[in-house]
Amino acid sequence: MSDQIIGGKSFTAVAINCAAKAGEWIKTKLGNHTSLSLKYSAQDLVTEVDKGAEMMIRNLVQTHFPDHSFLGEEGVEPGPEASTRALQSVRDAEYLWVVDPLDGTTNFVHSFPFFSVSIALAHRGEVIVGVVYDPIRDELFVAEKGKGAYVRGRRMGVSSEQNLRESLIATGFPADPNYALPLNMKGLQALVPQVRNIRSGGSAALHMAYVAAGRLSGFWELGLNAWDLAAGSLLVTESGGRLTDIKGNPYDLGVRHVVASNAHIHDEFLHALQQAESGN
Ligand code: IPD
Ligand code: CA
Ligand code: CA
Repeated sequence: MSDQIIGGKSFTAVAINCAAKAGEWIKTKLGNHTSLSLKYSAQDLVTEVDKGAEMMIRNLVQTHFPDHSFLGEEGVEPGPEASTRALQSVRDAEYLWVVDPLDGTTNFVHSFPFFSVSIALAHRGEVIVGVVYDPIRDELFVAEKGKGAYVRGRRMGVSSEQNLRESLIATGFPADPNYALPLNMKGLQALVPQVRNIRSGGSAALHMAYVAAGRLSGFWELGLNAWDLAAGSLLVTESGGRLTDIKGNPYDLGVRHVVASNAHIHDEFLHALQQAESGN
């Protein structure tokens, strides 16, 4: 399916081209954004660069695949209810591009060099191509359904830690201060003494890519959206990792509370979060 070529361009080639172009442009804007506004909460930021990058990606995708559907963060009203509604309206589309044009806006605004462009293509709700691009390190993470996942042209594989005690785990602090953040804090409190250490880099898509690359043993976060996770989901599974919601149900585009791991630690990870009542 992901081999399919329409008008001379494969899906994966277009995804890579979009991510590279948007990422390079975002990098030129580092330290130069001119407008900063708040969305859903005081922690939920957007700049003209987020919007410009999404427009660039949308235009490129539409040029190649005018019949495909498109779900991008900046085309959706802020807040969890609006995201759920927006996904519902397109999730059964034959081909759906799911795009976070700049994952890690807070980092971008502070010139903290850890952010990414995240682009996925789903076929009838199943992710078949996932690309995450880190323009600072010039690292492109690419996965195709059934064909593995690659970074810098090399096949990725998850890490080998067998238990939480030896694990380096990442999380994020959700922008929803009322529901997702307090629950994530419960999980954090419980996990810190059980793991080797915790990181919070500030880009969910890159955290997922790092699980795929074996740089992190696992990642969890509550209250994420389809565009944060879709591309990373395929990176993780095509690298031999496991991906569920916080209750252990398999990943789909509607999952907001995610647990990703190298598979070996997954059950222990889920159990620790459930003991902490971090997903209720
Ligand atoms: C955010 C990042 C961050 C995560 C937040 C997300 P954005 O996305 O992925 O790491 O903790 O929950 O909202 O707003 O920078 O695209
Ligand atoms: Ca995001
Ligand atoms: Ca974003």
